[in-house]
Amino acid sequence: MGAYRRIWLLTGWIFCLGFASGQGIPRQVRLAYGDNPTNSIRIMWQTDQATATVVEYGETPALGSVAYGHQVTYSLQTGILHEATLTNLQPDTLYYYRVGDPQNGFSPVYTFRTAPSPRPVPFLFTAFGDHGTTAVSRQNTQNVIHLNPAFHLHLGDISYANGNQPIWDTYLNQVEPLTRHIPMMITLGNHEWEDEVGIGYEAVLARFAMPGEDTYYVNYVFDYGDVRFIAFNSDWYQRGGSAVRGAMRQWLQNALSDARANPCIRWVIVFQHHPLFGSEARRGYNQTLINGLQPLFDQYRVDLVLQGHDHFYERTYPLRNSTPVSTAMDLYHQGEGTIYITCGGGGVSLYTFGALPPTTAYRESTHCYLAISLQPGESLTVEARRADNTLIERFVILPSFNADVNRDGCVDDTDLLAVLFDFGATGGCMPTDINGNGSVGDEDLLILLFEFGTGC
Ligand SMILES: [Fe+2]
Ligand SMILES: [Fe+2]
Repeated sequence: MGAYRRIWLLTGWIFCLGFASGQGIPRQVRLAYGDNPTNSIRIMWQTDQATATVVEYGETPALGSVAYGHQVTYSLQTGILHEATLTNLQPDTLYYYRVGDPQNGFSPVYTFRTAPSPRPVPFLFTAFGDHGTTAVSRQNTQNVIHLNPAFHLHLGDISYANGNQPIWDTYLNQVEPLTRHIPMMITLGNHEWEDEVGIGYEAVLARFAMPGEDTYYVNYVFDYGDVRFIAFNSDWYQRGGSAVRGAMRQWLQNALSDARANPCIRWVIVFQHHPLFGSEARRGYNQTLINGLQPLFDQYRVDLVLQGHDHFYERTYPLRNSTPVSTAMDLYHQGEGTIYITCGGGGVSLYTFGALPPTTAYRESTHCYLAISLQPGESLTVEARRADNTLIERFVILPSFNADVNRDGCVDDTDLLAVLFDFGATGGCMPTDINGNGSVGDEDLLILLFEFGTGC
């Protein structure tokens, strides 16, 4: 056999090996919202060998549009990381897509849905933290898939790679059945700081692209319906010095102040890794976070703070100034206090409790996930469930209505005229839509008449 022919055969064999082992095939496909969830989405994936970064997408399975992305690198990467952003999408629209490249092959066709334009809409989202790669972790991923949420919030401590990079691959393959259809919005936990191998947040930052400028390592906001979600990196807040903490507190204050000044936003939900209040046996309250953040959560009447880190389920009463303002168990009123929920039982080993603090309404050392739903004009409902899908607890927050349409401190003729003028109008962001159900109608008039004369 001539040398030329041997080289040709060898090249063919290497090509077949690469093809057979699927080295160019996209894996770990995952979605996140882009800077504006109504019109943009980020798609990330990994291949074993270098390929182009191509997304084909469209409103039918025929696709029809193409977007090109780029590769992302970090010092200990285990493959080729790809990232692409689709923009100029239509709100509240189902899209079909596949990722890969024409030479090496594409993924199957998957779907995602963009967020609706800012207005009151019913929706459900899910959350948990401290996930990992256990059998319970896999079960909890299935639990969330089964609910088909609009999106999933990850409350930090994501893969527990702890420096061992192939664990990221195991994890991202494990969650792919969820993340290829449902945007997963993350916040960073202490296990994302991989100081075991001296790379800090490098791996998580390379593997997940979230909205915003990323000045403080994955602090960002996004809106869905009439809710503003604020992701806060409580891990960096504590690792950074006082200058970092001051700047991050200012960022949070700006985000909260913007939310409360926006007439389209009725609910504000913060999510971060570390709990403020809690009764984990070794940790208890986090005084650094309480001192720094709780005054802001009070001032801007944050409705919910979702947290992980402590591997169990624990939930406070509505709190003001770290004190319960209601000791009811299942029905609350918006604005009376901030409710802090810890669901760090995403899948890794559970922790034990110390003494019961006065702030805790319910606690249970169990694996958990949260299913939170909004019915505009009616309620926000939190269901906390165990990994076996049985109910831990369910509670409801009734929305607060402001019948003082022109915000002059008095519910009077002027407000009544404004409601009558807008009567029948639909859409979001109208002060005359007093109950926030998306249209100005009888209910708004009734609320106004009931409140007539108050504050005057
Ligand atoms: Fe954890
Ligand atoms: Fe943690």
